[in-house]
Amino acid sequence: MNRKEFDQVFNGDLGGMNEKIAQDPEELWSVVQRLNNLQPKRILEIGVNFGGTTRIWQEIASELVIALDLDISKVTVALSENVRLVEGDSTDPEIIAIAKELGPYDFLFIDGGHTYEIARADWNNYSPMVRPGGLIGFHDVKAPIPGPHTLVKEIREAGACCELFIDGKGGGMGTALITRI
Ligand SMILES: C[S@@+](CC[C@H](N)C(=O)[O-])C[C@H]1O[C@@H](n2cnc3c(N)ncnc32)[C@H](O)[C@@H]1O
Repeated sequence: MNRKEFDQVFNGDLGGMNEKIAQDPEELWSVVQRLNNLQPKRILEIGVNFGGTTRIWQEIASELVIALDLDISKVTVALSENVRLVEGDSTDPEIIAIAKELGPYDFLFIDGGHTYEIARADWNNYSPMVRPGGLIGFHDVKAPIPGPHTLVKEIREAGACCELFIDGKGGGMGTALITRI
């Protein structure tokens, strides 16, 4: 996905709705550039809301995007056939089993429950579904909410990743990208 295509999706008509993607464009573009290099086949997203970031991932994944949320009736963006929406709690063993069945993934984007406990559970349950060399993204690591920030700090201190890329420029809430080893 090049910058022009990205801008078109980011600023464009998201299926006739008025919502805008709730991300800082420069921060998200930094992530997209990493994904362009990774060339992901399968992407798993936890936390879809109305489908703004899902709309970006569908342009990048060559095979499939699994998009998981507590309530998929909120999804108003027109999504393509390579997106499979899964409704349920990410901590539910049945939902974890569905995601596992459809993996492994090249990229996992964690943007669901933002408490420490849920972010930790999502990391524990879903990061093993990412292939070695794949990427795990956490959104809101600079936001004034403790969950993702504390968790990423712990992951960093544990040395459990070989690369940690955090971007939060332009007033964005910060995205950490962790390479799965
Ligand atoms: C910040 S929004 C996601 C925004 C989206 N990624 C974007 O940038 O456009 C968080 C979403 O996570 C969902 N969510 C919260 N807790 C969850 C859980 N335990 N399991 C699944 N989804 C959850 C909420 O319903 C909400 O839609």
